[in-house]
Amino acid sequence: MLLEVRDLHVEFRTRDGVAKAVNGVTYSVDEGETLAVLGESGSGKSVTAQAVMGILDTPPGRITSGEILFQGEDLLKYKEEERRKVRGAKMAMIFQDALSSLNPVLSVGAQLGEMFTVHRGMSRKDARAKAIELMDRVRIPGAAARVGDYPHQFSGGMRQRIMIAMALALEPALIIADEPTTALDVTVQAQVMDLLAELQRELSMGLILITHDLGVVADVADRIAVMYAGRIVESAPVHDIYKAPAHPYTKGLLESIPRLDQKGQELYAIKGLPPNLMNIPPGCAFNPRCPFAQDICRAEVPPLAEVDEDRRSACFFWRETLDAAASSGGPRA
Ligand SMILES: Nc1ncnc2c1ncn2[C@@H]1O[C@H](COP(=O)(O)OP(=O)(O)O)[C@@H](O)[C@H]1O
Ligand SMILES: [Mg+2]
Repeated sequence: MLLEVRDLHVEFRTRDGVAKAVNGVTYSVDEGETLAVLGESGSGKSVTAQAVMGILDTPPGRITSGEILFQGEDLLKYKEEERRKVRGAKMAMIFQDALSSLNPVLSVGAQLGEMFTVHRGMSRKDARAKAIELMDRVRIPGAAARVGDYPHQFSGGMRQRIMIAMALALEPALIIADEPTTALDVTVQAQVMDLLAELQRELSMGLILITHDLGVVADVADRIAVMYAGRIVESAPVHDIYKAPAHPYTKGLLESIPRLDQKGQELYAIKGLPPNLMNIPPGCAFNPRCPFAQDICRAEVPPLAEVDEDRRSACFFWRETLDAAASSGGPRA
């Protein structure tokens, strides 16, 4: 296994109180596999990713327990210097907003080249050639002519390609893409996503794709992990989840996909609000919004239990949920 996150807990100590952002996340990614991470805003997707990358905002953030096994070694036992070596060379992250991730006063060629001069000890000339090669690889038209341009001289989509190029430069084993296309126009979104998926396959990297876009997930992911209130509530191969979700929250997410054949119809949104992370409800955190909730759901936290081969659900009523999805005519994707 390339990456295994085990029972990870992260909290933020702020003036207003302690926000329990990550409350026992367990997920894994194999070599060459794409894991999509889904969940409403605030569910802990990014914080988990930052903990894996070692870029958590500390303080106020703090990992209170858990393990992050990467290629078999627990990164949480590494010193910061060792951690830095892993970052970039073995795992890299792609963010939503390239403009704030790239250095505005350095040409993109210089930034890409730096990966090779700093990490690989290359000469500036060779690094520049590498930069152009990478820009070609992410299909930036006229790469050789544009290597001296600055980030602001590129369109949003092209900038996102440059960030992908930065992430790929040292051919890491794992890429984490945190809503990599959310800030782009819809047509450009698809192009950038296709490119990322293609490079992932070519280089056989593990990819964690954090996204809102269930359409994208169906196309590119192998497995899905659904997060709610800092926990994984369901994880399974993509087609299993689309066929019939085994958690009521997943079911709600899938039902909120707009259907092309029902234009104008009200979008189904999950009722109620996400929990306050400073005061998460006892039992299953989703229980106040859950149509399946019973007394046990208010009293006990359901474990993320294996319900089928390679499939886990943290719901006492996963079977009922599966049956309900099957009898309502199946999925909408
Ligand atoms: N820098 C921070 N300071 C304080 N709290 C934070 C910080 N970053 C994240 N959090 C807390 O963690 C929660 C989860 O954040 P995040 O992982 O970014 O959610 P998402 O699933 O949308 O990516 C936030 O709702 C917030 O309560
Ligand atoms: Mg986020």
